[in-house]
Amino acid sequence: MIFLASGNPHKIEELHQLLEPLQIQVRSTRDLEDAAEVEEDQPDLAGNALKKARYWFDQTGLPSLADDTGLEVDVLNGAPGVYSARYAGENVTYAENVEKLLREMVGEIDRSARFRTVIAFVTDEGEYLFEGVCEGIITNERKGEKGFGYDPVFQPDDYSETFAELSSKEKNRISHRGRALDKFVSRIINSTTHQ
Ligand code: IMP
Repeated sequence: MIFLASGNPHKIEELHQLLEPLQIQVRSTRDLEDAAEVEEDQPDLAGNALKKARYWFDQTGLPSLADDTGLEVDVLNGAPGVYSARYAGENVTYAENVEKLLREMVGEIDRSARFRTVIAFVTDEGEYLFEGVCEGIITNERKGEKGFGYDPVFQPDDYSETFAELSSKEKNRISHRGRALDKFVSRIINSTTHQ
């Protein structure tokens, strides 16, 4: 059993889908009443992910997994990066963040970008970090209704659809979070098979 230190229903759903086939049981902040929000105030993704995983490990005693994700746009010097959730300000909607990104990118030819996820896993045996990256471009306009966040304007390399047009299965297969989780799973499986 592991604890998913996230209150974001979209992420929990994605992580559930990825962990289910491995028969890893999960609990998350969704199963708790009035779960605290851990403030993401660290200077980088690893710092935020570790802060959340440590907090929930202390609270629950269960091995705890947390992720933090940023969208890095080359022509914006890596912004919004660690500030992706509050790019357009505090307590804004996904749509407002996307709106701001499209506005900043008007007329830009170089639209290359990447999603980066850092997963932190904290257990009584130690702390582990796993990183996953997905390269792509920022489209000129929104496309698709699936997913969340910046999905409608992120088109992964080698695809002609945005993440919001792909099935969740396909997104998970190639996404930043899917890749970080693959590394986590290989590590966990290896460590259990070597015990
Ligand atoms: P956080 O990891 O929840 O802090 O995510 C930071 C920001 O990136 C939020 O605004 C999310 O909407 C966005 N984000 C995180 N993961 C994804 C994703 O898989 N697709 C699109 N946007 C994402």
